[in-house]
Order: sequence, then structure tokens, then C-alpha cells
Amino acid sequence: MKILCACLFFVCAFAVFAHEHAVPELPKIEWSFDGFRGVFKRDQLQRGFQVYKEVCAACHGVKRVAYRNLASLGFSEAEIKSLAAVREVLDGPDAEGKMFNRPALSKDLIGSPFSNDNAARAANNGALPPDLSLIVKARTDGANYVHALLTGYEKPPEGVSVGDGQYYNRYFPGHQLAMAEPLREGAVSYSDGTVASVSQMAKDVVTFLAWTAEPEMEERKQLGVKVILYLLLMTGLFYATMRRIWSRVK
Ligand code: HEC
Repeated sequence: MKILCACLFFVCAFAVFAHEHAVPELPKIEWSFDGFRGVFKRDQLQRGFQVYKEVCAACHGVKRVAYRNLASLGFSEAEIKSLAAVREVLDGPDAEGKMFNRPALSKDLIGSPFSNDNAARAANNGALPPDLSLIVKARTDGANYVHALLTGYEKPPEGVSVGDGQYYNRYFPGHQLAMAEPLREGAVSYSDGTVASVSQMAKDVVTFLAWTAEPEMEERKQLGVKVILYLLLMTGLFYATMRRIWSRVK
């Protein structure tokens, strides 16, 4: 009996806990890269990179992307060189065995804004801002999740106290995270005239992060379509051949 009561207690406690920490369903966005004919729009990728560079890059790296990879976003070689040149990277050793700083070149990785994880934690109240290169793949329904996270900051409900250096977010599991709301209306100014609303910037940066997570997505999908067309053609051909061969059998 005692065991049964204890079990019941735990089930109820868990149900209450799970309910309190339940994360609402993610709003579903229509992404240009969804579906078997999905593509990345070049202008949106460039806007997303701008949001990353001007806002997120203060804390998050994209260590799998080199400056020269940005050619896929439609940037010219000269633009890539000048994007890289504003950053300093450590190189060496030189002839005297010393390491030295130099402006980044196209071949360098965009990397992280911090020299190591401890420095990143120390600057962020003990929390580590994760590298964003693969974040869209690393989270369930990643694109919708990151968009929801960026637009999901709100006042904590009555009775919920938010820890020091923590912020309340509707969609973060547990609802409290160490990242302050990074996007505010007009945080960037787009040169193509697009209005920089929070939702627009979130969509743009998520599109950029979907690209960093799978830069070869467009080729993969195009190849998929070609393979299916080829298989359909072959099925037709084999079917016609079979009918021809069997037509002689009475
Ligand atoms: C001032 C620093 C700072 C800025 C700017 C910032 N972040 Fe963060 N971010 C953090 C920290 C710190 C965490 C870790 C939070 C935690 O685990 O509590 C984090 C976590 C995240 C996560 C992971 C959430 C999860 O599910 O674990 C994502 C995704 C993210 N940030 C995206 C972004 C994007 C996109 C931008 C730019 C629009 C951005 N961040 C700007 C500091 C920052």
C-alpha cells in the first residue's frame, strides 16, 4: 500500500512538473527551404548573415563556415575579402617563433568571438553560448524552434520568479535562459529596404543558420528530383519492355 501511495505521489508530482514546464507548440513558419523543391533565397541569406554579423556574432561563433564559403550567399570575392579583413586572427609562428595577429583572409574560418569556452562563459554569466553552425540540425524542428526562441521572450507569468541573469522565454525548455532578448525592432538596417521587424530578422537569421547547417541542401534536393525522374523513366521503359517480351507468350 505504502509503495502504491508513493508511486501515485510521484506520478502526480511529475504531471504537475511536466505541465508547469510544458513548452507550447512551435509556430510553423513557411520556409523557402522546406519541401523537396526547397531553395535558399540569396537576398534572404545575405540579410540573415547581416543579422548574425551585427547581433549574434557578439556571443556566438559559426566555426564551420569560412569567409570564402560566403560566395554561396552571392557575395563577390572583393566583398568577402573586406568582410574578412575586419577581423583579427592568430597566426604563426613567424621566423622568430612568435605568434602574431593578422587580418583574416577569405580562407579563414569565421570562428568564435571568444578565444575559448571559459572566456565565453565568463562573459555570459556562466552560460556558454553554443556555436550556431549546426544549431538548426541540433534541435528538434530546428528552424521553427530558433525562430520561436528569438521571438518568444515575454514577461514571466504571475508567481514565477526568474533567476539572476536569466530571462523568461515561452519556448525555451524550462523557460529560463541566460540569453537576453537579442533582437529588437530595427536592430539592423537592411540596405534592400526590407523592414527589420523582430520576426523578419528572426526569419532571415534562421535561413542563414539553416544554410550553415546544410550548405549543400539545394544540390541534394535537386539531385533527389533528378533521381526520381530517372527512376520513373526507367520504370516506364522496363514496363514497356516487359509487355513486349510477354506479348509473344500465348
Ligand atoms: C549577449 C550575448 C548573446 C547574443 C548577442 C546572442 N546570444 Fe544566443 N545565447 C547566448 C547565451 C549565453 C546562450 C546560452 C543560454 C543558456 O543556455 O541559458 C545562448 C543560447 C542560444 C541558443 C541555444 C538555445 C538552446 O536551445 O539551447 C540559440 C539558438 C541562440 N542563442 C541563438 C542566437 C541568435 C540567432 C542570436 C542573434 C540573433 C543570438 N543568439 C544572440 C548569448 C547570446
